[in-house]
Amino acid sequence: MGVNGISCGRAVFRRLGEADMEDVSSLEALCFDTSWSAEQYREACRGGWLIAFGAFAGGELACFVSLSAAGGEAEILNIATRQAWRRRGLAEQLLRFACERIAEEEAAVTVFLDVDETNAPALALYGKTGFSVTGRRVKYYGGIHDAILMSRGLSAAEKQ
Ligand SMILES: CC(C)(COP(=O)(O)OP(=O)(O)OC[C@H]1O[C@@H](n2cnc3c(N)ncnc32)[C@H](O)[C@@H]1OP(=O)(O)O)[C@@H](O)C(=O)NCCC(=O)NCCS
Repeated sequence: MGVNGISCGRAVFRRLGEADMEDVSSLEALCFDTSWSAEQYREACRGGWLIAFGAFAGGELACFVSLSAAGGEAEILNIATRQAWRRRGLAEQLLRFACERIAEEEAAVTVFLDVDETNAPALALYGKTGFSVTGRRVKYYGGIHDAILMSRGLSAAEKQ
């Protein structure tokens, strides 16, 4: 059992705070072409609108998910797993953990996201965790790839 978190196998899942944002920024920079700086993340935490959860494994932040939540709705901003920890179920477990926590703590009833149509791993992850396709934004990413819009309900009946 981690501090304010739960352990699952070898990983510990917990909500992240300002002190974790250096690690979040570094992991994001490893996984994406563009990333927020640690200070941008800290500022968003201080502003109270950024919510983040992390999975710690092997003594490091192995996976994070960032969200915003307001008025009963939440939006997934980003999710990434360190290369060495991929395909071990971390993103799936962390996403489920985050959805439960934002339903309880932020009274979120629906969570939304958009994902690049070419991102097969992410599309499969979201499909497996109960998200359904609700729409498409044509050429949303870089004027080239479409964004697939997805959502899922967070009520007890809709848990998957
Ligand atoms: C997408 C990502 C977060 C998945 O992380 P992960 O920890 O490896 O995912 P998990 O091990 O929890 O996988 C859960 C499910 O997602 C799907 N999935 C994950 N990686 C996949 C891949 N490479 N190919 C196909 N399906 C994949 C599978 O359905 C998997 O379940 P299974 O292993 O039982 O088949 C990871 O690949 C990543 O960090 N990608 C780069 C960042 C990114 O694109 N983020 C999404 C932004 S929208």
